[in-house]
Amino acid sequence: MDVNTNTGSTAPSDAGVAARVEAILGGMSLYEKVGQLTQLGLLPNMLGANPEDVIRLGGAGSVLWLTDRKQYNVLQKIAVEESPSKIPLLFALDVIHGYRTVFPTPLALASSWDPSVAERAQTVAAREARAAGLHWTFGPMLDIARDARWGRIVEGAGEDPFLGAAMAAAQVRGFQGDYIGSPEHVLACAKHFAGYGAADGGRDYDPVYLSETQLRNTYFPPFQAAVKANVATFMSAYMDLNDVPATGNRWLLHDVLRGEWGFGGFVVSDAFAVGNLVIQGFARDGRDAAQRALHAGLNMDMASGTYPQHLAGLVEDGSLPMTEIDAAVRPILEMKVRLGLFENPYTDESLLAQVIARPEHRSESRLVAQRSMVLLKNEGGLLPLSKNVSNLAVIGPLADSMEATEGSWMIFDHVPGAVTVLQGLRAKLPGANIQYAPGPQIARDIRSWFDNFTPEENRKPAQAAEQAEAAYQTAIETARGADLVVMVLGENADMAGEAASRASLDLPGRQEELLKAVVALGKPVVLVLLNGRPLSINWAAENVPAILEAWEPGTEGGNAVADILFGDANPGGKLPVSFPRKGSHAPLYYARNLTHSPEGSPMYNPRYWDGLPVPLYPFGFGLSYTSFSITNLQLSAAQVKVGGSLSVTVDVTNTGAVAGDEVVQLYIHQQAGSDSRPMRELRGFERVTLQPGETRSVTLTLGPDELGHWSSSAGKWLQDAEAFDVWVGADSLAELHGGFAVVG
Ligand code: NOJ
Repeated sequence: MDVNTNTGSTAPSDAGVAARVEAILGGMSLYEKVGQLTQLGLLPNMLGANPEDVIRLGGAGSVLWLTDRKQYNVLQKIAVEESPSKIPLLFALDVIHGYRTVFPTPLALASSWDPSVAERAQTVAAREARAAGLHWTFGPMLDIARDARWGRIVEGAGEDPFLGAAMAAAQVRGFQGDYIGSPEHVLACAKHFAGYGAADGGRDYDPVYLSETQLRNTYFPPFQAAVKANVATFMSAYMDLNDVPATGNRWLLHDVLRGEWGFGGFVVSDAFAVGNLVIQGFARDGRDAAQRALHAGLNMDMASGTYPQHLAGLVEDGSLPMTEIDAAVRPILEMKVRLGLFENPYTDESLLAQVIARPEHRSESRLVAQRSMVLLKNEGGLLPLSKNVSNLAVIGPLADSMEATEGSWMIFDHVPGAVTVLQGLRAKLPGANIQYAPGPQIARDIRSWFDNFTPEENRKPAQAAEQAEAAYQTAIETARGADLVVMVLGENADMAGEAASRASLDLPGRQEELLKAVVALGKPVVLVLLNGRPLSINWAAENVPAILEAWEPGTEGGNAVADILFGDANPGGKLPVSFPRKGSHAPLYYARNLTHSPEGSPMYNPRYWDGLPVPLYPFGFGLSYTSFSITNLQLSAAQVKVGGSLSVTVDVTNTGAVAGDEVVQLYIHQQAGSDSRPMRELRGFERVTLQPGETRSVTLTLGPDELGHWSSSAGKWLQDAEAFDVWVGADSLAELHGGFAVVG
């Protein structure tokens, strides 16, 4: 039995839970069993049949998208008092990076290279979500994304499986706590299983073709890490994976997830995805879709209505054995038992207001935002700025945008409440003259389907060309009157996220034109980026002295930006994704194989003749207000046996004048073997804080998990007895080198 030392509460024993589940299951009708496999989507504009009636009959196991919180207890009362087996409902919502206190978006959390930061953020998110009456969040999103055109890159941890796995486990711990059912926590959901980030052309929902080798070496590790962290649920992805939709993919959901990894929780489809099996040209009709999804290992149908329409009939006519239904229902009941919902089905409606008022939620959000930001450039030490600046211009369409500061997923009745960069700067410098001009608005060329959730009266009307031109001129005049300009550029919240892919990675609209005009005024300019994906900021990288990647930093984002710009916090984040120079260079990632004619060879071919496809900023890159040296690489052994471990130690020294953080990163390369291996792969990292002059020795361990790989030629996991390179440094171009051999 796990004991939660903080609260003294305990997790029930596995045997006790199983016995309880059998007892409940034994009393359920087929209709109720199918009900448990049914999740009702209750978006205000999608309400179909009266949900009360469905729940009263036992026809629903879970409800999602319900934003009227008062309804939670109302519907729960019907479930636990009036339905035949009195089984409580699971209330679910996408709480991706905060409920009311918004944290930096997951890509930003990964930029901290500090899993404890991600865990702290999701701990607060879980506490607020649970206080609101929710039991289950659809996060973390664990899709590796190597194509920055794909909008949902913002929701994940970036391009790397090792960093992604660390962030996956940390977020699961944050959401779920020490055990499933921990007080103030919710069920997590590892999504979207699997391969969704590799959509053809970066086009959201498009098909994915990935070899088993790519899946196992690159796309699966964060999901397997979530299973090891005891994640309660999984979500299947929307798209076809190698021509088999993930939602009907028995190899994924059964053979790998349950068979190999031993996952014991339940799998929910993505929204409408069971019904979509017909649209995808996979299932003949709804009946076929229901049967094949269930057989593949898909427990719960999210909102497509296909399971409730067809499963009972399939059992009744002998096409589906009741044992398959029972097996699908069991883990859903188990999670309800573990959450304690049979004993405590209701939520105290006054709780949320108390919980969101807890001051540490805001201070955690500010700290996490500081630790997530990445300093991309700081020529001549322009940053940190002096607080004596008296005439400051803050320019750009995102400078005072709460939406862009909070970022993606703030759609379910969310009331924007972020401290914007403008507000953060004003709070930091109460005596200064701060002039603000937004410049022309930016907008998508094609509207988002998600706009349907915003009432027409709340949607911003498009700016007319003359207004945009006037705003442009005002912005330049405002900058002209200042001693220093902070430009806040990037993407609106609706420009990254679901259904928000784009072909170009340029700054949208007239932002770069405005940036050029302001820089031409000859004043010191600091560029703050608010965005959900890497942007090709080639001109800025050449011509703007200081650039801070602030991502979508959340409720306290503007304060955190001001803390960094004025030196109250020292940036230490690192990029979890490569920054391409052009959208057409995507997919672009550091862990690639060398193949024919690599750089340095006589036949070197730069791959494109119209520009080098090397990143503008490499994976793992980020600056600080201090400087570091990483030296003295020591290996615990020159040789290690297959299955054994060795350690790699370096000294990291703060060689500058202020305290700061460095992320020590370890990369390996297997020189030869059963398969060609990537020229570098991250296999260890640690973020350390050092005082000026302080030296710390950092030891990272390489064991069989770090040194093995899925072999394409052998069709299995193996560890080759071969020579390895190892590099340790401050980004993926690290030069401090050593070598060792794995021996048989
Ligand atoms: C669709 C998205 O793909 C998924 O990430 C989300 O959790 C569900 N809708 C529910 O909102």
